[in-house]
Amino acid sequence: MTSEEKLNRCYEAVKERLPFVPKLALILGSGLGDYAEHVTVEKTIPYESIEGFPRSTVAGHKGQFVFAKVEGVPTVMMQGRVHYYEGYPMQDVVLPVRLMKKMGAEILFLTNAAGGVNENFHAGDLMMITDQISSFVPSPLIGANMDDLGPRFPDMSEIYRREYREIIRESSKSLNIELQEGIYLQFTGPAYESPAEIRMARTLGADAVGMSTACEAVAANHMGMKILGISFISNLAAGLSTQPLSHKEVQEAADLAAPKFRALVTEVIRRIGEQ
Ligand code: HPA
Repeated sequence: MTSEEKLNRCYEAVKERLPFVPKLALILGSGLGDYAEHVTVEKTIPYESIEGFPRSTVAGHKGQFVFAKVEGVPTVMMQGRVHYYEGYPMQDVVLPVRLMKKMGAEILFLTNAAGGVNENFHAGDLMMITDQISSFVPSPLIGANMDDLGPRFPDMSEIYRREYREIIRESSKSLNIELQEGIYLQFTGPAYESPAEIRMARTLGADAVGMSTACEAVAANHMGMKILGISFISNLAAGLSTQPLSHKEVQEAADLAAPKFRALVTEVIRRIGEQ
């Protein structure tokens, strides 16, 4: 089955079950995992009920679409995403993003937990993503182009929209939440990086590193979605701190910062809804 056929099948399996046409798609990374518990849920669709849909296998990541009006904005959330390191081909990793676009979402709000590479960052910071480096993972656009979705050679000169970056800045100011800004670099994982790899990432201009997001943004930008993103800096990347990294620590740090992350995301969505 081609990626296009798989996508269409998944869409056929969900289209009758949507409570509304979503305007905004929100991917809940570590740190926002419980966001869905703070909104009025209208409907959930477990990934396992969609035949052919890739399933997240990471501890602490649930697997379902959650539909809710966030500050009045019809939103489809992904509680649990799929990572390249889980062994899925890149086309499967971005299938959920393509599916949310097919559902009707025009805006993609990406969130994640990431390691801080910029020496001015601290564990617990929030970083607005201004641009990204996806060159260390295969492009999800490799293979026959899905002409219905977007062009063969899409422009990537403004992946994270300027207008939304302004909204994120204004939202953080109004909530008195300190905000960092920077470039997100995606590595494949699943191992955390070595100190030498982090030095390389810094030399290349990265401010934060993670194992998701950039490939999703490439697929979404290909389809013309309007993208914004915020990283939660759960830890300083290898070499910047003397502490070894563990998934548990990343998760715990993320849980601690959840309230401010939630508040910022909600305020940003409220302002997008007002536009
Ligand atoms: N490296 C890569 N991915 C991550 C990190 C990190 O230090 N922290 C959270 N996700």
